[in-house]
Amino acid sequence: MSLVKFIDFEIKGDERGSLISLEGNKNVPFDIKRVYYIFDNVPGVQRGFHAHHNLKQVVICMHGECTFVLDNGKVREEVILNSKSKALYIEDFIWREMKNFSPGAVLVVLASEYYDEADYIRNYEDFKRISK
Ligand code: TYD
Repeated sequence: MSLVKFIDFEIKGDERGSLISLEGNKNVPFDIKRVYYIFDNVPGVQRGFHAHHNLKQVVICMHGECTFVLDNGKVREEVILNSKSKALYIEDFIWREMKNFSPGAVLVVLASEYYDEADYIRNYEDFKRISK
């Protein structure tokens, strides 16, 4: 089974343009406790390099594109995120890396929990060991 799970958001379009609405426990599969965004990426930067014990996230690329690497300790997959209506759903215990940010790329991340540094697994060897 693929680690890459997409959520397709319905675009409410009319002659004026487009609109997407995000609602917790409706088209977003959890209560949204936190929203953050990633922007002004330094050229060539890579981010992430961590997993979480208890955190679900929905990632939307609002502008430009970037590549996500997802890894469950056994399988590693890469996916390009480049759509406002096709979001990446990352469940608990998935190692993620982000790279190949296009100039001006903006990611918006919806999270199921408040920020908690203690929930992070930032060492890949620890992640591999725990994921066995
Ligand atoms: P981090 O999660 O390591 O960023 P990324 O996964 O994009 O590489 O977070 C970077 C810094 O920002 C780190 O010092 C923690 C802080 N931070 C918060 O204070 N609140 C948050 O919601 C997030 C996601 C990060």
